[in-house]
Formats: sequence, structure tokens, C-alpha cells
Amino acid sequence: MDRITVGLEVRPYDVLIGQGVVGQAGVLLRPYARNGRLLIVTDTHVGQHVLPQFAAALQEAGLSYAAHLLPAGEGSKNWTELERLVDWLLSEHVERSDHIVALGGGVVGDITGFAAHIVKRGCHFVQVPTTLLAQVDSSVGGKTAINSGAGKNLVGAFHQPALVLIDPDVLDSLPRRELGAGYAEVVKYGLIDAPEFFDWCEANIDDFLAGDAQARRYAIARSVEAKARIVAADEKELTGVRALLNLGHTFGHALEAETGYSDKLLHGEGVAAGMALAFRYSVRRGHCTASDADRVAAHLDKAGLPTTLRSAHVDTSGEHLVEHMLHDKKKSGGTLPFLLANGIGKTFLAKDVDLEDVAAFLDEERNR
Ligand SMILES: NC(=O)c1ccc[n+]([C@@H]2O[C@H](COP(=O)([O-])OP(=O)(O)OC[C@H]3O[C@@H](n4cnc5c(N)ncnc54)[C@H](O)[C@@H]3O)[C@@H](O)[C@H]2O)c1
Ligand SMILES: [Zn+2]
Repeated sequence: MDRITVGLEVRPYDVLIGQGVVGQAGVLLRPYARNGRLLIVTDTHVGQHVLPQFAAALQEAGLSYAAHLLPAGEGSKNWTELERLVDWLLSEHVERSDHIVALGGGVVGDITGFAAHIVKRGCHFVQVPTTLLAQVDSSVGGKTAINSGAGKNLVGAFHQPALVLIDPDVLDSLPRRELGAGYAEVVKYGLIDAPEFFDWCEANIDDFLAGDAQARRYAIARSVEAKARIVAADEKELTGVRALLNLGHTFGHALEAETGYSDKLLHGEGVAAGMALAFRYSVRRGHCTASDADRVAAHLDKAGLPTTLRSAHVDTSGEHLVEHMLHDKKKSGGTLPFLLANGIGKTFLAKDVDLEDVAAFLDEERNR
């Protein structure tokens, strides 16, 4: 088992990564169960694919549990489901000393973490992420949220988990498209500041996508290490270090907004296209070589991810996409800070990027 510590000054916590971790959940979680009982939040898909094994492991270790199932999907990150969840926790007599278990993807993790933050003025929670995206990204770092009518993730809190348990084997039941979407975030860590990890991705992508245990474990551990390091350096996104995790996300969010945050384009798919665009825009501005941008796009393409507006199912003007970016940042006019790259593994924050130039670039990208 790999153990990676998220080295926060206040309450550091461990991320445990290993095959069969779900089967050992009872033993691993016993110290976190008040009176030998755990409250589990999951969703309807995970309830079918992972909960049975997880629950059996708890029972084997002599623990009891109660489970709350959210409807699967992004639509559950709303006030109604939050209210239901909090009511359920209270009906189960949740206490501040409890550790609520979030068993699922980023949706379950985000809403459960937020519920844990507000119920009884704050309980503990444990993340057991079951999608690749949640394993390499959302389960670590303590950002929790629900969506509101005004946009995604606008209501939430920083609330760090007490422990994260990652079992790469649970990815066996994950749909291929969800695996690809999570893989975009894996590649992102290489592109930010780890060119040797990007080389590793290029060399091992086939094994990884085929479910090779070694490749999975290495990619997940390497990603969690990177995220843990960045979060420890800038827990609340105050110094700009944590902002590096948003590589590809400004372009990506505009594409997600344009496709209505729907199944047309998953978050990770938007990020993949967004990273390809950020690299090509970096070439246009003279920061990066065309061959690096080509390498990035070719790799994402190999994972079956979109790398152009066309393949992201977006067909609209550059100006309109820039409007989405401005709405996202709650800002109007002129310029925006953008994550650009001097090359693979050399991401930097460019302040004051001219949005008219971005719009012109995106208009050219429509022909690609
Ligand atoms: N908190 C953060 O730092 C952070 C970071 C990135 C993304 N997010 C959030 O994460 C969410 C996306 O997370 P996601 O991609 O995990 O989506 P998700 O939680 O909706 O999971 C994707 C789908 O896979 C299913 N699923 C999950 N595990 C499975 C398994 N093992 N086998 C079969 N099916 C399984 C789910 O039921 C769902 O249908 C977004 O809401 C996003 O805002 C948060
Ligand atoms: Zn992301």
C-alpha cells in the first residue's frame, strides 16, 4: 500500500492507495467508527457496483453501517439533495465525532464533504473515491460544493477529509468514457510541472487504459503526490500555487458551459480540449513550440479525448466562448489571468491575457 500524506499545518491526513483497500475497509476504518458504526453516502451506480463489497468488509470487521443513496449524476449536487442528505444524517443521530464516509465519484465527495462541514457545525468525513477523476483529483484537497442556478460549485466550503482510501480495482466497473475523463486530469499533472511523468504517460497509456494494476497504481499515486504537494503549499488558493491545477480549465469550462454541462462533454473531456487549446494558444503567443503542442494533443487523442472545438461538439464564435469565461470568473471586459505553457511541464500563470486575442484564436480554431 502507498501512503501519501497531505502535509497541512493543521490536521494533515493520509491517502492510502492499494489494490484491495476496499476489501480491508473494515479494518482501516475501525478507528474512525463511533460506537462501531459508520454513516455512508453513495450513489445509485456505486451502490450497485462497490457498496456490496465495501459493506461486507465493514461487517467482517464487526462494524455496522447505514447508507444513503443519491441519484447518480451531476444533477444531485443541488440544494434539494443536500437538504435530504443533511436530514438523513440528523435522523441517524450524527455527532461531531462521527466520520461520514463518501463512497463514490466527485459528485458524492463534493456534496458529502459540504454536508459534513455544515451538519452539527462540522463533522469529520472520509473519502473513498470510486472514479478515476475522484481518485486523482477531487477526493484530495478539501474543496466541497454544490451547484446553484447561477453556476457550478458556487456554494461550498474548504473542508478536508480525515482520510482518503483509494482502491484502483474499483475502476474495473467504471464506464470507459469516465475513465478517459479522469485520465485527462492525470495527464494534467505531467503538463503542469512534471515532464518526466508526461513521458511516462506516453509510454504507458495502453497498459493504463487496459487496466494494468501496476500502471494504474503508479499513475494514481503520482497524481495524488502532485495534488497533495500543491494543496499543502496553498490550501485555500491564496498564493496562486493551487491555481496551477486549473490548467486547461478556463478554456474547458467555456466548452462545458456551451454544451450545457451535459453528457455531451464530461468535465475531463472539457479539460482535455482545454489543455490542447491552452498549448496551441501558448504557441500563438510565442511561449511554446508547435511540436510540444502537437505532442500534447496526440497523447490526449490517443486516450480518445477531444482536442479541438469540433471534437468537443462546440460550434460557436470565439466571442461567445469568451463570454462564458467572463461569466465563470464573475468579471467583465478586457483581460483575464490564463494558465499557459512554455513547454511540456512548464505551466505558468500569464496575467492580463487580452480576451479579444483569445476570441480571435478560438475563431481560427473552429476550422481545425
Ligand atoms: N472537489 C474538487 O476538488 C473537485 C475537483 C474536480 C472535480 N470535482 C467535481 O467532481 C464531479 C465529477 O466527478 P466524477 O467525474 O467522479 O463524476 P460522478 O461522481 O458523477 O461519477 C461519474 C459516473 O460514474 C459512476 N460511478 C462512480 N464510480 C463508479 C464505479 N466504480 N463503477 C461504476 N460506476 C461508477 C457514477 O455513479 C456516475 O454515474 C463534478 O461535480 C466536479 O465539479 C471536484
Ligand atoms: Zn478538473
